[in-house]
Amino acid sequence: MPGEPKVTLSVATADVGGFVGHVSIHPELLDTAKERLYGAREKGAIIDFHVLRCGDDIELLMTHENGPDDREVHELAWNTFKACQEAAVELKLYAAEKGMVRDVFTGSLRRMGPGIAEIEFIERKSEPVLVLMANKTSVGVWNLPLYRIFADPFNTPGLILDPAMLDGFSFRILDLKEGKEITLRSPEEMHYLLALAGSVSRYVISSVHRNSDREPVAVISSQKCNIVGGKITARCEPAVVFRCHVGFPAVGEVMEAFAFPHLVEGWMRGSHIGPLMPVPFYEANPTRFDGPPRVIAAGFQVTDGRLIGPHDMFDDPSFDEARRTANQVTDYMRRHGPFQPHRMPQSEMEYTAMPIVLDKLKDKFKKIE
Ligand code: F6R
Ligand code: MG
Repeated sequence: MPGEPKVTLSVATADVGGFVGHVSIHPELLDTAKERLYGAREKGAIIDFHVLRCGDDIELLMTHENGPDDREVHELAWNTFKACQEAAVELKLYAAEKGMVRDVFTGSLRRMGPGIAEIEFIERKSEPVLVLMANKTSVGVWNLPLYRIFADPFNTPGLILDPAMLDGFSFRILDLKEGKEITLRSPEEMHYLLALAGSVSRYVISSVHRNSDREPVAVISSQKCNIVGGKITARCEPAVVFRCHVGFPAVGEVMEAFAFPHLVEGWMRGSHIGPLMPVPFYEANPTRFDGPPRVIAAGFQVTDGRLIGPHDMFDDPSFDEARRTANQVTDYMRRHGPFQPHRMPQSEMEYTAMPIVLDKLKDKFKKIE
């Protein structure tokens, strides 16, 4: 309805210090974040909030009526992460300097280190949302599930059973190398979409809207990831937000895409490939070889801007087999040791000693006759 207030759900993510190493978050950091956001809610700066964590990354969920890219909301998230970082420094937690690439706030979280996903909508009669967050992986982690949820009727029967979804969905895709973006429609341009989205380290699906009315349905946190001159300047801690039901995929259709623990980039030293394991909140502690990569899912009803929840969506035995498969795939992948494709290609590795190795060996290389 025109004139009805729009609610914005802003989800900010950052890595401001790990406990122990890169495994988890110390409870003091979560308390610090909650105190800050509680104060902001009391002052009326936000309607509601929730603090989550996956592995060593913190996630701040905030609802408000200021729209996306609001300076005050971004600054609140920035100051909250800064306060968490100070608590981490005090406890000498691990790599507290990592998540914030600037010292002072410059007006937006964009290019500052943290990730931010924001979705603005007029609340429907009932507004079920899912917020997923992953750890030990990279921005392209959502490409495969987003494709399956919004373009594959074998995952989402609603695409052919719900008249409101028959026209399909459009995908905004970022080209991380060229610093460009493109929007492709499904089903018409499905092959082009797959041609791009399958290259997960270069082309990242950043948001999805419904074709019939351009209503936004999903957005990922790297949409405003730190792309400067076509290069990612800091790691994003990946999150994705979904609105569900009534012309959008059902909660169960979104969840179904995670029953297959697909292979993702960014495990150990940001340089390995492994399966994405869906876990309940209390199991989001990647300890084996810093992994395997994890994903959590928090379900909420947004009611007058309030976040009613969370429900811990992967706390369900129907995901036991996905977890078991992920463990089996972990054993299999680990047996490759430093060999590709467990180790990522040279160009995609976050850490590499290769230039030093090549320099040490340069005089021993002989031309092939
Ligand atoms: C991967 C990750 C960890 C670290 C690894 C080495 O995303 O965060 O696997 O890369 O534990 O950590 P540093 O370089 O801090 O010794
Ligand atoms: Mg991290």
